[in-house]
Amino acid sequence: MSTTPSRGMWSSRTGFILAAAGSAVGLGNIWGFPTQVGQGGGAAFVVVYLACIFLICAPIMAGEIALGRRTRLSPVGSFATLAPGGRWWLVGGLGVLAGAGILSFYSVIAGWAVAYVWFTATGAVTGTPDEIGRFFGEFTGNGLVSAALALFVIGTTAAVLLGGVRTGIERVTKALMPLLVLLLIALAVRAVTLPGAGAGLAYYLSPDLSRLADVTVFTSALGQAFFSLSLGMGCILTYGSYFSRRDGIAASALWIVALDTSIALLAGFIIFPVGFSIAGFDPTSSGPGLIFTVLPRLFADLPGGQLFGGAFFLLLSVAALTSTISLLEVPVSHCVDALGWSRAKAVGAVAGVVSVFAIPSALGNGAVAVFTSVPGLGIGFLDLMVNAWNEFALPVGGCLTAIFIGRIWGVERALEELRAEGAWFPAPALWAFLISWICPAAIACILIATLASML
Ligand code: PFF
Repeated sequence: MSTTPSRGMWSSRTGFILAAAGSAVGLGNIWGFPTQVGQGGGAAFVVVYLACIFLICAPIMAGEIALGRRTRLSPVGSFATLAPGGRWWLVGGLGVLAGAGILSFYSVIAGWAVAYVWFTATGAVTGTPDEIGRFFGEFTGNGLVSAALALFVIGTTAAVLLGGVRTGIERVTKALMPLLVLLLIALAVRAVTLPGAGAGLAYYLSPDLSRLADVTVFTSALGQAFFSLSLGMGCILTYGSYFSRRDGIAASALWIVALDTSIALLAGFIIFPVGFSIAGFDPTSSGPGLIFTVLPRLFADLPGGQLFGGAFFLLLSVAALTSTISLLEVPVSHCVDALGWSRAKAVGAVAGVVSVFAIPSALGNGAVAVFTSVPGLGIGFLDLMVNAWNEFALPVGGCLTAIFIGRIWGVERALEELRAEGAWFPAPALWAFLISWICPAAIACILIATLASML
């Protein structure tokens, strides 16, 4: 439980909230959420998603912060310290792998967002919806360009990480997050007032409950909730290890959940009204390209659209960067804490490995057939990564974390940490019930039903 001298500390509670929100808010909110709503049945997905956020993820978020702060270690060390001699450190190990695995595909999408800063700002991507769609297909079909952009994202992330916890992460987030929120609000106001926006709003807001018969709605909503909040892989735990004991965990966790969820919901208020207002376009069948095909249409008709488009994708790229930083931080801090590596060596080694694994996701969008449609699975490599890490590894990690907190560490000890120094903590009995029973049981049911549906 020692604090090594090289470990940084957040400058304040706001610093922690902004950095954790910087991790949480990213492609998951603006790319992932609308894509999943589109594929998963509209408003019915949104309802399940919100239930997962508040009943499953929010309690786990508080638990992860408490684990990190208690031990002042990264995930493997945290679990090992609180349950010496057992195998619980493997939960942390799964998180280390998930950090690298998610970053490998995340960097590809982030690379696309970076390229779209240029494409929208210079007016390269305009025209009819068909033309915009074709542009996206040709761009992502060029595997070399996608791979180069992904490597650029990984390299930039590594460079920021070498700057240290506080200077690197806090400063970027503090400056740009409010701007992103303002721009999203402005675009949402524009989107909902477009002619034909009503159909999009109906799809997004009035649930078709018959969709709930499909277990994949639950699987993808649960996976998306974990992914969006950076939970289930020790990322928030690692950030919690830099969190001061003077500050309250519950209030911070609620802020992060509220911010992240509002931004995802806001993104839906842009994508669906715009998507449904485009004649002949079906936003429910466009997969990972949804935002890259819908948003340029919005910017094309907007006065000053090139400026708005460029700014939007720039802010999205920065939001993605604060998330990639946190993804890389998990395996890096593991190598520093557990293997005694220098930070520079750890950053170099992990970034190198992730770069290799990013290649198949970059080549899997038309460039190379086996990665575009993985034999025997019929989906692309990038989708396979989303399914494996987001919809499987993160919920498994979250379920085991909840079991660990409820049964091994113990709710009493966890509550002691959560309420340290008289911190505000609402409804401790409800939290204890959710973390000990509802979180593990609900996640296990969804995972088992998913596996059963695959047989
Ligand atoms: N939460 C990030 C997003 O929504 O884009 C992605 C992410 C970051 C997931 C960090 C997991 C993580 F540990």
